[in-house]
Amino acid sequence: MTASTTIRWEQDDTGVVTLVLDDPHQSANTMNQAFKDSIIAIADRAEAEKESIRGIVYTSAKKTFFAGGDLKEMIRVGPENAQVAFETGTAIKNALRRIETLGKPVVAALNGAALGGGYEIALASHHRIALDAPGSKIGLPEVTLGLLPAGGGVTRTVRLMGIADALLKVLLQGTQYNPRRALENGLVHELAATPEEMIEKARAFIDAHPESQQPWDVPGYRIPGGTPANPKFAANLPAFPANLRKQLNGAPYPAPRNILAAAVEGSQVDFETALTIEARYFTELVTGQTSKNMIQAFFFDLQAVNSGANRPKGVEPRQVRKVAVLGAGMMGAGIAYSCARAGIDVVLKDVSAEAAAKGKAYSEKLCEKAVSRGRTTREKADALLARITPTADAADLAGCDAVIEAVFEDTALKHKVFQEVQDVVAPDALLCSNTSTLPITLLAEGVTRPADFIGLHFFSPVDKMPLVEIIKGERTGQEALARAFDLVRQINKTPIVVNDSRGFFTSRVIGHFINEGVAMVGEGIEPASVEQAAAQAGYPAKVLSLMDELTLTLPRKIRNETRRAVEEAGGTWAVHPAEAVIDRMVDEFGRTGRSGGKGFYDYGDDGRRTGLWPGLREHFTQPGHTIPFEDMKERMLFAEALDTVRLLEEGVLTSVADANIGSIFGIGFPGWTGGVLQYINGYDDGAGLPAFVARARELAERYGERFTPPALLVEKAERGETFRDG
Ligand code: NAI
Repeated sequence: MTASTTIRWEQDDTGVVTLVLDDPHQSANTMNQAFKDSIIAIADRAEAEKESIRGIVYTSAKKTFFAGGDLKEMIRVGPENAQVAFETGTAIKNALRRIETLGKPVVAALNGAALGGGYEIALASHHRIALDAPGSKIGLPEVTLGLLPAGGGVTRTVRLMGIADALLKVLLQGTQYNPRRALENGLVHELAATPEEMIEKARAFIDAHPESQQPWDVPGYRIPGGTPANPKFAANLPAFPANLRKQLNGAPYPAPRNILAAAVEGSQVDFETALTIEARYFTELVTGQTSKNMIQAFFFDLQAVNSGANRPKGVEPRQVRKVAVLGAGMMGAGIAYSCARAGIDVVLKDVSAEAAAKGKAYSEKLCEKAVSRGRTTREKADALLARITPTADAADLAGCDAVIEAVFEDTALKHKVFQEVQDVVAPDALLCSNTSTLPITLLAEGVTRPADFIGLHFFSPVDKMPLVEIIKGERTGQEALARAFDLVRQINKTPIVVNDSRGFFTSRVIGHFINEGVAMVGEGIEPASVEQAAAQAGYPAKVLSLMDELTLTLPRKIRNETRRAVEEAGGTWAVHPAEAVIDRMVDEFGRTGRSGGKGFYDYGDDGRRTGLWPGLREHFTQPGHTIPFEDMKERMLFAEALDTVRLLEEGVLTSVADANIGSIFGIGFPGWTGGVLQYINGYDDGAGLPAFVARARELAERYGERFTPPALLVEKAERGETFRDG
């Protein structure tokens, strides 16, 4: 074998061959060219030396068993090199198949994470053992990158567990299971507590099954649960969960559709043909724009953001040990929980002991739920709760090395609470505000150490939302920025960094989405069509229902304040057509949103939506008035994308990855786009900026000046550039 081999052949004197996956040039094993060459050489050798082999064990010398496809290669695959990609995939699959059908027992000993290609190697084994290691994950998450598992993943899971389970448990949601849950769900056969035990178990399997073969290679084999060839089959197909139905029905996610087709078509043909069908559907995905968008966002951008591309260099990392959370309302309670879950001691302060205790009760509720669902143990839950100390006494904040303020949205009150605590906490404590609208520079005027003051904008519900928007004020120091970044990472959230400006990035941009939906209602378009357009564009929440959630009054108040500030500074306020609609809804009809019991929707006594308010049609809709459905969808997407470019121009945003990640994880910009700037890069199947500019001009002509492309966008389009960091 050559020196560049990525798989070591280690044969003992009993004839057991251990294939050690160990790419010498990478920190993780991936399905690259070197792996392809190695696995083919291994299959050749196994066939040639078959007589001396008693069994085969796949394992790895890396921390993870196998990391999957090489995404750097995949993001470059276009129609012109699709054939090469297809052939590479086929060669790897054939090699795995030759080993699988050698007539010798094959065991996968999963020493660490086996996702994607890694789990596909395991599927091509007769027996799968997973090391029960913390953090280890098993599954086929390709769908989350707009792809499907084409290393036999669709074909084998369908044959292993039946079409329904394969789709729902493994393929369509890309669930990453920990080893225990992988065992419960039939992805592996057994667990091992130590690497030594795992190898012993592998040997025991080989001893007990000298002529092992896959169930699907046994004559007479049938797919569990049947296939569409059986008339009863359709009745047995499970109802798809709502979020999946959405993906399959309207929003432009091609991967779930192709996975479904590959699974169903592949179930009705022989194994080898099924592999070809799977490969064909994969090729369509990997050469398409959506997978490129999703790989860019969910792999490269997310990695850049989390690894600290934006964190000031040269500042020593620091961990927070004890945090003061001021205000135990909805946000403060959630922030306290997230910090305690990450092992940080929390002092949760409100105006009264009762209010503080109520804030802690929120954590108690979440812990109870987690214990009852088996997501945590009683001991861990108790330890988490013991870390939260509710109080009304500022003296209890002594020794806190960070403060996160989440009291009412009021500048004077925020100034007051910081004055109360700044001399009690550690003298160099990081000072953070969770304001969603107030300028950080203004809030920093209320503290004695403005360099240590910074915005930490969480999203609701805090325990579920992965993003935190860090806002630098004019006087925020580099050290504070680095420490804020470290704190967000310490609580396992994703930090984006922006400069101070009204509404920052996320609140300002989501406002454009909502305004555009509301403006369409005002133009006389059927409100149900507006909602449908948002859903089919891929937004997780429909636009008018989101407006109701936020209330019509709060954004109106912020808008009026912003308008006043702009005009006081000598600027002109560009009136958005949504404003008149919202004013009428509130002033004329008294409809203030969900919390007021009525808004664009009607609500029952239990607070549930009962339907769009019929009065919308009476007061706004012009029967027969409609615009192209594509325009409806793109008006919302473009409104957000164009304002993001303006934020880059204004220097509020400084990183493309931050914009993409912030838009998807913070404000529900559709994931298929790869985020708000990648949407522009990949617009119209990859035509990109020139096509986007042309379309923006068309929208500007039809629907208003606000769609006029900003200069930065036009210049980049003319120079043939895209939005990229670095
Ligand atoms: P909330 O009304 O649920 O909670 C505010 C809490 O602050 C109350 O428990 C109140 O008793 C307490 N408080 C008032 N004065 C205090 C004082 N002097 N000392 C200690 N505690 C005091 O409000 P919510 O929704 O939690 O918002 C808090 C902050 O977070 C606001 O600045 C808001 O703009 C911001 N925010 C809110 C988001 C949301 O979705 N609600 C999202 C992101 C930020």
